[in-house]
Amino acid sequence: DGFSAEKLFNQGYSYTYDDVIFLPGFIDFPTDAVNLSTKLSRNIDLSIPCVASPMDTVTETSMAVAMAALGGIGIVHYNNTIDQQVDVVRFAKAHQFPFVSELIFVSPSDSIHCGDEFGKSQTIFVTETGRNDSSLLGIVTKSDWERLSDSEKEGRVSAYMEVNPETLPSSYNFKDVAGCIASKKLKFVPLVNEDEQVVNLVTADDVERMNSLPKLGLPSLGKDGKFLVGAAVGTRESDKERLEHLVKAGINVLVIDSSQGNSEYQINMIKYVKRTYPNLDVIGGNVVTKYQAANLIKQDVDGLRVGMGSGSICTTQEVCAVGRGQATAVYKVSSIAEQHGIPVIADGGISNSGHIVKALSLGASTVMMGSFLAGSNEAPGTYEYKNGLRVKKYRGMGSLEAMTKGSDARYLGDTAKLKIAQGVVGSVADKGSVLKFVPYTMQAVKQGFQDLGASSMQSAHELLRSGTLRLEVRTGAAQVEGGVHGLVGYEKKYF
Ligand code: XMP
Repeated sequence: DGFSAEKLFNQGYSYTYDDVIFLPGFIDFPTDAVNLSTKLSRNIDLSIPCVASPMDTVTETSMAVAMAALGGIGIVHYNNTIDQQVDVVRFAKAHQFPFVSELIFVSPSDSIHCGDEFGKSQTIFVTETGRNDSSLLGIVTKSDWERLSDSEKEGRVSAYMEVNPETLPSSYNFKDVAGCIASKKLKFVPLVNEDEQVVNLVTADDVERMNSLPKLGLPSLGKDGKFLVGAAVGTRESDKERLEHLVKAGINVLVIDSSQGNSEYQINMIKYVKRTYPNLDVIGGNVVTKYQAANLIKQDVDGLRVGMGSGSICTTQEVCAVGRGQATAVYKVSSIAEQHGIPVIADGGISNSGHIVKALSLGASTVMMGSFLAGSNEAPGTYEYKNGLRVKKYRGMGSLEAMTKGSDARYLGDTAKLKIAQGVVGSVADKGSVLKFVPYTMQAVKQGFQDLGASSMQSAHELLRSGTLRLEVRTGAAQVEGGVHGLVGYEKKYF
């Protein structure tokens, strides 16, 4: 019944996830027995197959920290200065806690007369420099400050700050911190690094909120015992200097970012990285064909990123007439990558858990997501309202707006002078915290695997290669039937 992937994907059509549908297999295990642990690249293991895309509206410190806490990984974007990217990596690696609070610093000689300094925070930190680059001298809580008289508020912070506040090491994970907050009945506690610099602030309310979320699985930790964090760079000469600083900041994996990775520029960059940093896993791409993949495999890449024009904000296929339907691309590239033991990242085009099941069952080991994660609390930027809907900005790295900050390297790679956009700027709806919706999404993926009869990533890939996994192309009408239809009004709610 149905077709094997080998037969279906060799008929001259470019299919994407929605075009195809799997036929159910045989279930002989419960949903919770499905193991989604996987490999990002040859030497990087993850406990969930989720990767946050290196885009400036997706992955900075908060996203990198949350993804690692969930057992996935975030790849920090490079549409910024070297110092800014390095800071994002450093901050992310300084955490063991699943989320990052906004921190406000003042110096002892400041005065706090209007209270605006507190912003949404109930506590501000006092350091010699008034920034987070020196050790903690004291704290001022909003409730203490409100009790001061007007003249006291005009005085120096040093006169009324609380010195030697209770702190905890930033190496503490959620369980450690929650335990201390409960046993010592603390309302809040700053987490500090080895240099007594504040890296986070956790309140008793935060702990309560976290306890109401799905339980975290195994976090992604490197050999250094810290959260796994990746970074992307381009293929320009200046990216070598960027990389040197990123390696010093402790990145665990490098993504060489290009929309068409089969180029001399990328091959030279891979050679350089392999020679200079032999212990760093390098992910090449993007590729969508076996031919492109083979060229990067020859360079000994440790992972391949697949997708061209499949992203929600992409216009590459329209502008350049090149690319491939994402289901076909993932299947084709992973069939050659697998022969060399190279994990594949299915990058772009994920808009629901079914797409994740399809990507992984077609041979990918992880999915990289932009829009799926962009409206979350952890994505950079602030929420705004559009037509009554709470949204966050999400933009393509090839949009004109993003390229003015330097991301054109991904699309030009050479010396082209005229910039042509290959992406758009838009917004995505508020999705809440990734710490909540990613675990629910993974549960849905497990149910998909169970329906297929695959209890792990490896078994899904075996079912695919042996031809046991059967699939078909859906007609337009079948796609309509496969979605909600015939209802006048309904709300799509998954959890
Ligand atoms: P999703 O569908 O997850 O896609 O939002 C994210 C992926 O899209 C790629 N990307 C782009 N592709 N023009 C493109 O053609 C762009 O401006 C652009 N920005 C990002 C990238 O691979 C990302 O992971």
